Amino acid sequence: MINQLSSLLLSGITDILIVEGKQKRSIEDHFDSAPGLEQNLKAKNKTNLLKLVNDTTAIGVNLFFARQPYPNGLGDAVRMAKSFVADEPFVVMLGDDLMNDQVPLTKQLINRYQEIHASILAVKRVPHENVSAYGVIDPESQVSDGLYNVRRFVEKPTIDKAPSDLAIIGRYLLTPEIFDVLDNQKPGKGGEIQLIDAIDTLNQTQRVFAHEFKGYRYDVGNKLGYVETNIEYGLTHSEIKDELKKYILILAERLKSESKTTKK
Ligand code: G1P
Repeated sequence: MINQLSSLLLSGITDILIVEGKQKRSIEDHFDSAPGLEQNLKAKNKTNLLKLVNDTTAIGVNLFFARQPYPNGLGDAVRMAKSFVADEPFVVMLGDDLMNDQVPLTKQLINRYQEIHASILAVKRVPHENVSAYGVIDPESQVSDGLYNVRRFVEKPTIDKAPSDLAIIGRYLLTPEIFDVLDNQKPGKGGEIQLIDAIDTLNQTQRVFAHEFKGYRYDVGNKLGYVETNIEYGLTHSEIKDELKKYILILAERLKSESKTTKK
């Protein structure tokens, strides 16, 4: 599994705007240089740590930051990118959705765009009882394997009203016309400006397609997803993967024998 910025880089995207809420300065600081720390590590000859600090700073992308003054919804956050994007198609990536994808999902969307020249977003089949946590599509027809024409986009429907189990996950490729729609978008679910409502309106004048993602998705926006994601990352990390695997196998044995004892 690779991190968000690496997957954007692998998709050929190098100009990135991070829209952040209040109290999120640490994101900017993470990518900034840290002269004091670097000097200290150099003086103590801690070359491995120094490399880690330098690698985080020089990641080969142009990073820009914008602040969303109020938490008015995803549509409002995307609207903050209007002048950055100007008049080109662009990709939206939600920070708390991570994918275990061979070809980065953003790259998959870009490849689809080159076929269809229209907005397209990623969906994934989820258990029916979970649909209310997502935007959901009402698929009209399947154009080709995993590519859908969409009749309607619905934000967080109740289980009985969900038009399908195809949930929108945090990757979108949008044409710049979305900004005109967002400028006039009224608050929707939760009193917030919902990106999905604007996408649904855009779909009336220019087609917005859905691309089905078949890989694994981690949602670090909830506690279990956060822990799972860290374990998966650890299992691919050269320094700790072997030890971590050993630990997980031992832990699994322990949990198995504990559950046998409890059943007796
Ligand atoms: C947001 C979107 C929703 C989408 C989800 C994916 O919801 O509004 O349409 O399905 O991200 O993670 P949130 O998770 O921010 O409530």
